[in-house]
Amino acid sequence: MRKPVIAGNWKLNGTIAEALALVTELKALLPTNENVDVVVCPPFTALGTVAAATTSSAIQLGGQDIFFRQKGAYTGQISGPMLLDCGCKYVIMGHSERRGRFGVPEPDFTDDVLRVFGDNDTTVNLKLRAALANGLIPICCVGEILSERETGQTDDVVRKQVIAALKDVSPEETATVIFAYEPVWAIGTGKVCAADEADRVCGIIRATVASIAGDAAAHAVRIQYGGSVKPDNAQDLLGRPNIDGALVGGASLKAADFAGIVIAAG
Ligand code: 13P
Repeated sequence: MRKPVIAGNWKLNGTIAEALALVTELKALLPTNENVDVVVCPPFTALGTVAAATTSSAIQLGGQDIFFRQKGAYTGQISGPMLLDCGCKYVIMGHSERRGRFGVPEPDFTDDVLRVFGDNDTTVNLKLRAALANGLIPICCVGEILSERETGQTDDVVRKQVIAALKDVSPEETATVIFAYEPVWAIGTGKVCAADEADRVCGIIRATVASIAGDAAAHAVRIQYGGSVKPDNAQDLLGRPNIDGALVGGASLKAADFAGIVIAAG
């Protein structure tokens, strides 16, 4: 049995004081359930404070991104050792808000503020390997944009992203990776992917892992669904055989909603 993992991606939200208030409220609401991994990913600036506030709780900490070098002249970047230093155990990479979608015609590339960070399959692989090399658990996001879904490319896009992410990663390391299937059209839109379809695509991710790293790794790898997960749709999604958890955006900023999703996973 794979242990469900519910992770809250707080994105660009919260001062240190707000992050502390949110995690304090969350601690009070969360059930004690050792059968679910609960992770919060605050902004980098709040990691130290949230780490100090969660030391004696079941809440674990993750970073929202990682740079693939350990140190040096890389202005603005955060490395694996820095994340570890802040108490992180997990780190997200390949989020669609960071992957470049250059060359994608309108209307999908509508927001020139989002998706300008230029992550691509190559850098996502470097980041995933940097996470593993530092002993961090990668949460690697994959998923199609709306036009790819509408033109029947979902399965191919997701397969390609998974294969690229796992380049030069051993089967043993692969077994520790968490994938997050986040259909881009479902993120922050309130349009949740139907549970059957989310489960089907998570099954494709698992089959792709099996083809690269073998059945044992595919069986062990945990796959989250992300995109408009809320307490009222969580149970349906989390009850599916290939969905081992959720990567939660908006609802993770409300302690009661995030706790509700954790309860649905348990
Ligand atoms: P929402 O839950 O706000 O749709 O965001 C999902 C997400 O991007 C998590 O990484």
